[in-house]
Amino acid sequence: MPELVHYELRDQVAVVTIDNPPVNALSPGVPEAIEAAVARAAQDPEARAVVLIGAGSTFIAGADIRFFETITTREASLERSRSVHARLRHIEDCPKPLVAAIHGTALGGGLEFAMACHYRVAVPSARVGQPEVQLGIIPGAGGTQRLPRLAGAPLALEMCTLGQHIPTHRALAEGIIDRVIEGDFLAGAITFALEKTQSGGIRKSREQNAKLSDRSAAIAACAAARHNLKKIARGAHAPYAAVDSIQAGIEFGFDAGSEREIAIFADCVLSTESRAMVKLFFAEREVAKIPGIPKDTPTLEIRSAAVVGAGTMGGGIAMNFANAGIPVLLKEVTQEALDRGLATIRRNYESSVTKGKLTPAQFEQRFALITSTLTYNGFDRVDMVTEAVFENMDLKKATFAELGRVTRPDCILASNTSTLDIDEFARASGRPAKVIGTHYFSPANVMKLLEIVRGRESSAETIATCMKLAKKLNKVGVPVGNCFGFVANRMIAYYMREAYQLLEEGASVPHIDRALVEFGMPVGPFAMQDIAGIDVGARIRQYLRSIGKHRAEGPESPVPDWLFDMGRYGQKTGAGWYRYDSGSRTPIPDPLIDDLAGKAAIARGIERHPIPDDEIIARIMTALANEGANILDEGYATRPGDIDIIYIYGFGFPRHRGGPMFYADTVGLKAVLDRVHRYRNQLGDHWRPAPLLERLAASGQTFYTWNAARRDAA
Ligand code: CAA
Repeated sequence: MPELVHYELRDQVAVVTIDNPPVNALSPGVPEAIEAAVARAAQDPEARAVVLIGAGSTFIAGADIRFFETITTREASLERSRSVHARLRHIEDCPKPLVAAIHGTALGGGLEFAMACHYRVAVPSARVGQPEVQLGIIPGAGGTQRLPRLAGAPLALEMCTLGQHIPTHRALAEGIIDRVIEGDFLAGAITFALEKTQSGGIRKSREQNAKLSDRSAAIAACAAARHNLKKIARGAHAPYAAVDSIQAGIEFGFDAGSEREIAIFADCVLSTESRAMVKLFFAEREVAKIPGIPKDTPTLEIRSAAVVGAGTMGGGIAMNFANAGIPVLLKEVTQEALDRGLATIRRNYESSVTKGKLTPAQFEQRFALITSTLTYNGFDRVDMVTEAVFENMDLKKATFAELGRVTRPDCILASNTSTLDIDEFARASGRPAKVIGTHYFSPANVMKLLEIVRGRESSAETIATCMKLAKKLNKVGVPVGNCFGFVANRMIAYYMREAYQLLEEGASVPHIDRALVEFGMPVGPFAMQDIAGIDVGARIRQYLRSIGKHRAEGPESPVPDWLFDMGRYGQKTGAGWYRYDSGSRTPIPDPLIDDLAGKAAIARGIERHPIPDDEIIARIMTALANEGANILDEGYATRPGDIDIIYIYGFGFPRHRGGPMFYADTVGLKAVLDRVHRYRNQLGDHWRPAPLLERLAASGQTFYTWNAARRDAA
């Protein structure tokens, strides 16, 4: 077994190096070894001070996240936390100056170990944070107690409730870090430690009380943090728990506060919220691992790009390339369309400047990377083209045929289609191995999700290049198969089908939207459609009817088409499912919708009746999970975690519920299947249970345990 912590003497300083690749997580054995090494240094007559440092690319990235899933009882959690607290207190009691030397990141338990040292030095590029809320827990090793004592209540509250990392310069200014070291890092840390043997000596974070001396101000900061969370936490519990723990330390002191932290941590670590978020942490890392496409698959460097179509999506896509520093040609067919597209891009950038997200110089720099054109001149020099023309098969096929002629043979040809078969474009291009779907979500320059749609003949190199590009564009790339609607829109069709049905059955638009917002969605289905545009869906439905297809199996509500016929496209026309006052985005319920829903209900022989919130959620979530199971069974998504990531990044599904597939796991697949059977009896045969759901319910599995077993068997 390799040694997890090394001990050596350098210039009369004991250097304790944590060596647990890849991120020096505090896996079992590491905390014990750090404690033993510090105890050894305390006894070592040759050592005047101690430096704690990480080997490899980082300090300590925190507790080993895999370990949380093994905590299954409150007693086990309490026992573990008490021993960690005692260990850190022991380390902090080291009689010689103890310095944490931070490069890379000191996160979670990593920052907590650093704060138990007497001083902290860092390289300029380091980052520190308490990201535990992103895992549905709170800092459990004294972070809610030591951080407010070093940084003051407001910053500690911000860091522990939002979980963001803060850079060295801010950590220095706020008292978390004591010195920034340029040049030889270890030598600088040793020098600093030796200085502390002369002056400063030992300074225990747990005894620093100056920043909490104004107790009422610190408690007021806690109240303000809770108030702020109402707007942003959307049903999550852990951020509030972090505030409670910090407040306990302010009110009752370090020891009582620590006891409170230990108890609150135990509640959190056993919660569904934490189970969901831990699964997501690993799902987010697994999503880039594509079966059959090894990590070392060669990729093309995308140094220049082109986008065909300067509409809303095309313009947003061009901005993504420019934001990543990649020059991009933006092509349209008429000067008028081009001018309109460029004006929108300019407006978007100007709004970022107004909001302080971009400097005027950055705006100019990025805008200058976008070159508008009415011809294909220059397309022979680009590495990738993204097609974003109207959703029309003939037009897209003609565009791909042209692109096949005007670009280099190694140039990747991507389509932003959301509904059409990319294999048809691939054939038209004459270069199918280079053709792929890159499906952005609106607004394309903002939304993080990028579905990477694998065509029948897309080469491994093409897929790997697009996955790498997604990262460069600051997107989360999720590989999906080429089925109708791919994964996101195929499932959302079932989500919307149920929303329309519930409306016809008697729930109102504001009621359905409110129930989903209370569940944790950023907006309800109808408000979402008013933002996206009712016309978009209506046009897709028209096209599908023309080719004899449906977006989702089952009854198709006429109400959205009636709204389309009335010119009610949503926010952009001042009315859709809601009304909007001029210049306002505040939805105003409109009794007309109830009239239309009543008319549709009569036509279908439905007697309208009140529907409780939990029935709304159950219907909609069951529809999502059942269709998700079909998608998994058919192989169009690789893992349940991939679907969950799509819903989190594409539609703002609440992270603390883990995504639609994890949520179904928490409901229990047997219960989900029972619902499908019940709905089938009540509502019709279109509620067909997915075969995978039936198999898993019968064998007592969940989507995630099934996936883990498949992965282990592979
Ligand atoms: N535990 C276990 N594995 C971890 C880990 C952790 N804390 N942090 C990262 N890893 C693993 C990842 O799963 C990944 O593994 P694979 O290569 O097998 O997929 C590998 O380390 C590299 O991670 P990334 O791909 O994320 O690498 P990156 O360079 O993009 O990011 C990072 C590095 C910023 C450290 C990022 O991994 C990260 O944010 N990690 C989690 C940090 C965190 O949340 N810490 C708090 C833990 S909770 C805690 O500490 C509670 C407490 O108070 C006791």
